[in-house]
Amino acid sequence: MSVTYNIAIDGPAGAGKSTIARAVAAKLGFVYVDTGAMYRAMAVYFLRKGIAREDEAGISEACKDIRIDIRYENGVQHVILNGEDVSGIIRTEEAGNMASACSVYGAVRQKLLNLQQNLAKTSNVIMDGRDIGTCVLPDAQTKIYLTASVRVRALRRYKELAEKGQERSLDEIEQDIRERDYRDTHREIAPLKQAEDAVYIDSSDMTIAQVIGAIIGAAAERGCPAPAQE
Ligand code: DC
Repeated sequence: MSVTYNIAIDGPAGAGKSTIARAVAAKLGFVYVDTGAMYRAMAVYFLRKGIAREDEAGISEACKDIRIDIRYENGVQHVILNGEDVSGIIRTEEAGNMASACSVYGAVRQKLLNLQQNLAKTSNVIMDGRDIGTCVLPDAQTKIYLTASVRVRALRRYKELAEKGQERSLDEIEQDIRERDYRDTHREIAPLKQAEDAVYIDSSDMTIAQVIGAIIGAAAERGCPAPAQE
């Protein structure tokens, strides 16, 4: 059995994990796995069913009716919720906040663990999330903890939303980020924290290219296969 090479990237909301991970995956010829998208897809299901975020019993029960699949089209990840491609509609603040609230429950996390681990067993992956280096892929050869100041993360989100024509005040976004950070780092099961052997990168004053370079450098030092020919 061939052993795959795995890069785990954890960090708080808005740290730029997905942008960076997607670019690193393209450079290395790896598969990019966005685990937040899986939690968001589950959140969409709960929102549609009108299940309250506090209703652990209802959410746990509903997990039994959910099937999440991942498909790749031209290297782009698609999340399939019970046969429906929800990749577009999971990208709202509502889905993100609901995902953060529901991901505290064991039934929700358990539902996605095998899927995530199997993807990493079958391909070289760069996987981002909150608990990848600590829980999902504790043996990942390279682990990165990517963060940035709350203000910088809020500003990035603000610009992202503005580009999509969605207007929200910067202070409101910052407040959301603080709440999400608190929930993601304080939950009982698989909280966001830096793995002991993770490389810490604060991207507040770094360009995207610098962060990509730092991650590829860290992976190369840890035996990552050479990048695919461009
Ligand atoms: O990365 P994101 O914003 O798409 O993630 C949405 C929420 O999903 C995040 O606030 C917490 C949860 N999540 C998680 O608990 N574990 C992961 N590995 C990924 C996301």
